Amino acid sequence: MKTLNLIGGGRVGQTLGRLLTQDGQVRVQDVLTRSITSAEQALAFIGAGRAVGQMRDWRPADLWLLAVPDGQIAPVAATLAAADSLPTATVFHASGALSADVLKPLQDKGWKVASAHCLLSFASPPMALEQFAGTPCALEGDALALAELRPLFTRLGAQCFDVRAQDKLLYHAGAVFTTNFLPVLQDLAEQLWQHSGMPLPLVQHLRASLLKNCVDNITKLGPQAALTGPAARGDAALVAAQGQAVQRWNPGAGEAYQALSGLAGQLAKREARKS
Ligand SMILES: NC(=O)c1ccc[n+]([C@@H]2O[C@H](COP(=O)([O-])OP(=O)(O)OC[C@H]3O[C@@H](n4cnc5c(N)ncnc54)[C@H](OP(=O)(O)O)[C@@H]3O)[C@@H](O)[C@H]2O)c1
Repeated sequence: MKTLNLIGGGRVGQTLGRLLTQDGQVRVQDVLTRSITSAEQALAFIGAGRAVGQMRDWRPADLWLLAVPDGQIAPVAATLAAADSLPTATVFHASGALSADVLKPLQDKGWKVASAHCLLSFASPPMALEQFAGTPCALEGDALALAELRPLFTRLGAQCFDVRAQDKLLYHAGAVFTTNFLPVLQDLAEQLWQHSGMPLPLVQHLRASLLKNCVDNITKLGPQAALTGPAARGDAALVAAQGQAVQRWNPGAGEAYQALSGLAGQLAKREARKS
């Protein structure tokens, strides 16, 4: 069985570590985080591995997953590349926006490098475990590394596809729009309803009903047919008045309202396409 060392044991590290352990393809071996508390939490969730406090304690492994925040991938890769006692292996990170190029110091030393981005909002590891089956997984990097990772992720239930290194920023922006901005928009809506005096239980009811109905409509009809509202109807006077009211309430939200209204108008007018 292949061994995997995990650097970073947060939401993604815990979820993938647990899935791989359950699947039995890979044995999670050494787990490194910044604090011992989070390492212990990760080990408890994964159900395997041992916490290591520092680089010199790492044992060689077949696979290394860098599940650290994007800004930490380059420094961690540089540290790993400097560990001359470690034999080369396959190393991959989980970022959607960064390509495997960020692992170049390791590639230069003969490691096989890749990125594997699972297109799921890993808000909490227990929920992500349940939601993982069928998740699209964008793969990119060395052919030899991908030949190892593709079957691994496919067996976990992911739907693997290839993405080019130069496309990763825009590819990931798609995920930001759909999964990261939706909670932001929902929060703004809830603030506006509460500001207008709507009772809290009704606000919470709307979270469950209006939002869910909208997602159902998008799923069944596609974004264009699901679009309603003043911008979609071309009601420029109302859009302008409402935009100014929102701007007075919260300038940032006002700018978002204007920008999104412009995009909504364009979407409404766009020639219908199959979606
Ligand atoms: N969350 C998502 O929805 C999602 C989805 C797809 C891909 N990703 C990608 O997955 C990666 C990890 O994201 P995440 O959401 O799992 O992050 P996270 O929950 O914030 O966890 C980050 C983990 O990295 C550890 N860490 C930070 N700096 C480190 C360092 N220098 N050395 C060792 N460990 C370090 C942290 O340890 P401490 O807790 O001790 O600080 C923590 O265990 C990122 O590349 C992200 O873009 C995230």
